[in-house]
Amino acid sequence: MYNAIVSGTGSYVPEKRLTNADLEKMVETNDEWIVTRTGISERRVTEESESTSDLAYVAAKLAIEDAGLTAEDIDLIVVGTVTPDYQFPSVACQLQERLGCREVGSFDVNATCVGFVTALQVAEMYVKLGKHKHVLVVGADTLSKITDYTDRSTCILFGDGAGAFVLSRTDQFIENEGIIYSSIHSKGEHLEGLYVPNGGSRNPKNNTAEGPGIVMDGRKIFKLAVQSMSKTVTETLEASGYQKEQIDWIIPHQANQRIIEAVANQLNYPLEKVISTIKYYGNNSSATIPLAFDLSVKSGKIKRGDLVMQTAFGGGLVWGSLLMKY
Ligand code: ACO
Repeated sequence: MYNAIVSGTGSYVPEKRLTNADLEKMVETNDEWIVTRTGISERRVTEESESTSDLAYVAAKLAIEDAGLTAEDIDLIVVGTVTPDYQFPSVACQLQERLGCREVGSFDVNATCVGFVTALQVAEMYVKLGKHKHVLVVGADTLSKITDYTDRSTCILFGDGAGAFVLSRTDQFIENEGIIYSSIHSKGEHLEGLYVPNGGSRNPKNNTAEGPGIVMDGRKIFKLAVQSMSKTVTETLEASGYQKEQIDWIIPHQANQRIIEAVANQLNYPLEKVISTIKYYGNNSSATIPLAFDLSVKSGKIKRGDLVMQTAFGGGLVWGSLLMKY
């Protein structure tokens, strides 16, 4: 058994900003409603010619450089995404070629907004068992590509982005270093609370009443989000033997500022230690956590040795958490 430690991080968002003022021109909404109900002021969105792998590539390159490695050092590539460039091949496989990695294994993980946390847990297993020394883990999504910009209840939330970690093996096992505990869960009965009805094998064309893009029951998902993220953090604390007072930072999935605040409240955990980047980036699915993590490391907020809890939920319903010493 070895430790799985984060040796480098990187992130990237597209240049183009979609502000609340822009959305006011597209649907019946206003800046005040969006800010009060979601905490979002703007999001980044890709140009038509940009895709998920373009964002993932830059984030991954930066993470590898940050780790002091080259693409040749990477032993496996795992990408969390629900918006791959193509049905197949995977974004991970495209990264193998674009980054110039050896002929290593690569695959995507679809766990909606828990994509990165899930991909990181897959990588954790490979690294801890000693099978691989450096695993590239990316969370990247372009939700703008599957958002219905005539639906004001969803289009105000979503954006695009990418974040990446290099997860590396230590030479010997040290108690409570790197990833300490992780878990994922699912409950498929909530499918229709948040899903993309068209474009898959059940409805290959845009021929259902729900219309194109993401379909969501916002109020239902809001409650499930608060319950599931709070529950999984409590579970991870209990399983790892840590008290919440020992945790330096919680990074929740960035879906709505009110959800973030409700989770902090439910856990009775200080809001100033809960990282939020939602104001400038909205919800970019698998990218929210690695993006927030990387920005916080680069700004000096998260430091080496800090105990960081990640927690996420997403369509399915799926949810999970991960505690690490950075
Ligand atoms: N602008 C103005 N008014 C709006 C807008 C808008 N953009 N959207 C909805 N409204 C209206 C509604 O029509 C409703 O009007 P009514 O009272 O006349 O019927 C009113 O505002 C209140 O609507 P609610 O849906 O109750 O508003 P709520 O406070 O719940 O906020 C929101 C809606 C922001 C969608 C919230 O429910 C939410 O964030 N839910 C969770 C979303 C989420 O986390 N999604 C997960 C994504 S994770 C993944 O896997 C992609």
